[in-house]
Amino acid sequence: MSGSHSDTLRWVRAACLDDLSDDDPIGIVVEGIEIALFRDGDRIFALSDRCTHGDAKLSEGYVEDGCIECPLHQALFDLATGEVRRGPAVEPVRAFNVQLDGDDIVVGL
Ligand code: FES
Repeated sequence: MSGSHSDTLRWVRAACLDDLSDDDPIGIVVEGIEIALFRDGDRIFALSDRCTHGDAKLSEGYVEDGCIECPLHQALFDLATGEVRRGPAVEPVRAFNVQLDGDDIVVGL
């Protein structure tokens, strides 16, 4: 696992790959930080689990075309970068580095 000893990034085990299926994101709390995990086949994405537009959890939204749709007002965020793809949200959500260590999903904080 490269980068695991970086000063700026701590890699923390967040979940097991089996906990996560395509089209069914999960919300977890890692060291007090709410994180939404998404899976698209072999790819895993981690975003802040809080829409930047309002009080909604992205882990309760819908995955479509590499984006997550906010369940409240349907803003779209890019799963890989957290960028806004469609409003009403304006601010991107924080995207976390994520990697697999065996069957463990590990998030960089
Ligand atoms: Fe997410 Fe409004 S709370 S789009």
